[in-house]
Amino acid sequence: PTGLVIALDGPSGSGKSSTSRGVATRLGLRYLDTGAMFRAMTWAMLEAGVDVHDAQAVAAYAPTPRIESGTNPTAPTIHVDGHDVGEAIRGEAVTGAVSPVSAVPEVRARLLELQRTIIGDGDIVVEGRDIGSVVAPQARVKLYLTADPGARAARRALEEGGSDVAATEASLLARDAIDSTRRTAPLTMPEGAVHIDTTDFTLDEVIDQVLRLVQQAQ
Ligand code: C5P
Repeated sequence: PTGLVIALDGPSGSGKSSTSRGVATRLGLRYLDTGAMFRAMTWAMLEAGVDVHDAQAVAAYAPTPRIESGTNPTAPTIHVDGHDVGEAIRGEAVTGAVSPVSAVPEVRARLLELQRTIIGDGDIVVEGRDIGSVVAPQARVKLYLTADPGARAARRALEEGGSDVAATEASLLARDAIDSTRRTAPLTMPEGAVHIDTTDFTLDEVIDQVLRLVQQAQ
């Protein structure tokens, strides 16, 4: 493998997105948000009226939507069949439906192919739940980010413009439970990953830790 692949996995609100974008920007690398791809697939299912709790219906629809990810870390984009869904995929409807959709093997197989194509020869920071374990086990640097549930909920509620922290925490934990127990590519700490608990660190401190690890791995 020639290019540099940096894999960041972890549960919702652990600081993966901000850290990944910061690291990619500092190193001049591309950035791929695989969670946005699963959210885009879920948005397409909801638009098409697919029952997201019917795994057979979800599997049958999985090949249909055309999903395009932009990889600029300062302005990542996501399109479904040419529609910009960057905002829509952050809404409650998608957030509530994304974990059951992501548990369906046909969805994962479809997106895995797209993810591997984008990753190509590397020079990219990739964030998700199964990047170091399944999507890019060859990654030169693998990180597993966690944080206390209260801290994760507080950050996510702030990002969402002041949603209720208790409700946000309940929603995060419900997604984590489904994501960590599904049969295909569950959320797990990949072999060879460095664990960073971000609870008591600022974003810049976490970015600096990752940059040091990348330097050591060169
Ligand atoms: O990272 P984000 O919270 O946007 O991810 C949304 C959902 O997409 C996760 O809760 C999980 O169900 C799914 N996901 C996944 N595998 C990935 C990235 C995200 O299953 N690599």
